[in-house]
Amino acid sequence: MKIFAETERLILREIVAADKYGMYELDTDPLVHKYLGNQPVTSMEQVEEAIEFIRNQYVTNGTGRLAIVEKETSSFIGWAGLKLMKVNYNNHVNYYDVGYRLIRKYWGKGFATEAAKASLDYGFESLNLDTIYAIADVKNTASRSVLEKIGLRCTAQFDLEGDEHDWFEITREEWKTTDSL
Ligand SMILES: CC(C)(COP(=O)(O)OP(=O)(O)OC[C@H]1O[C@@H](n2cnc3c(N)ncnc32)[C@H](O)[C@@H]1OP(=O)(O)O)[C@@H](O)C(=O)NCCC(=O)NCCS
Repeated sequence: MKIFAETERLILREIVAADKYGMYELDTDPLVHKYLGNQPVTSMEQVEEAIEFIRNQYVTNGTGRLAIVEKETSSFIGWAGLKLMKVNYNNHVNYYDVGYRLIRKYWGKGFATEAAKASLDYGFESLNLDTIYAIADVKNTASRSVLEKIGLRCTAQFDLEGDEHDWFEITREEWKTTDSL
C-alpha cells in the first residue's frame, strides 16, 4: 500500500477497497456535504464506485485524493490530497486542486490543516508543480480557514452551480515562504 506522505500525527496513503466503511460514514453525513452540493451518498455501491474512480486516478494521473490515517489509532479519518481537475472551473482546466473531507468526529483537531499542508508539500516537492489551486463555498468557514492557514490566497469568486465560491491559489515561490506547521 503506497504511502504518499507522513506528518506528526497522520499518514496519507492510497485509498483501498477496505476503506469503504470509513468512506461510507464520511459520505452519508449530510453535514459533511453541506457545502458540497448537499448530495450525501445513500448506498455502499456508490462508495465502492467512488473508491474505484479515485484508484483509477492514481494510475492515470499519478496521484489523487488519499486516505488520512491517524497514527495513534490507525483509524481512517477521511481523505485529503491533490486531484487533477479535468473539468473547467473558473476558467482553469488540467490543474491540481487541494481538497479534504473528514469524518465529523475528527473535526476541530487541526487534522485537515495538517493533511492539506502535507498535500501541498507533496505537490511542490514530488510532483514539481508550479501552482496549486482550491475551491471553497464562501460560507464554508472551516475550509476557507484551512486554506488560508496553509498559505493559499483567495484571488477570485465565481458561481458554481448557483453558489458563490472562493477561488484560492498558491505558487511554488509562495509555498517556499510558508512556515512548516
Ligand atoms: C473542512 C474540514 C475538512 C475542516 O476540518 P478540521 O479538521 O476541523 O479543520 P482544522 O481543525 O484543521 O481547522 C479548521 C479551522 O476552521 C475553524 N472553524 C471550524 N469551523 C468553523 C466555523 N463554523 N466557523 C468559523 N471557523 C471555523 C477552526 O477554528 C480552525 O481554525 P483555527 O485552527 O484557526 O482555530 C471539515 O470541516 C470537513 O470535513 N468538512 C466537510 C467537507 C468539506 O467541506 N470539505 C472542504 C470542501 S472545500
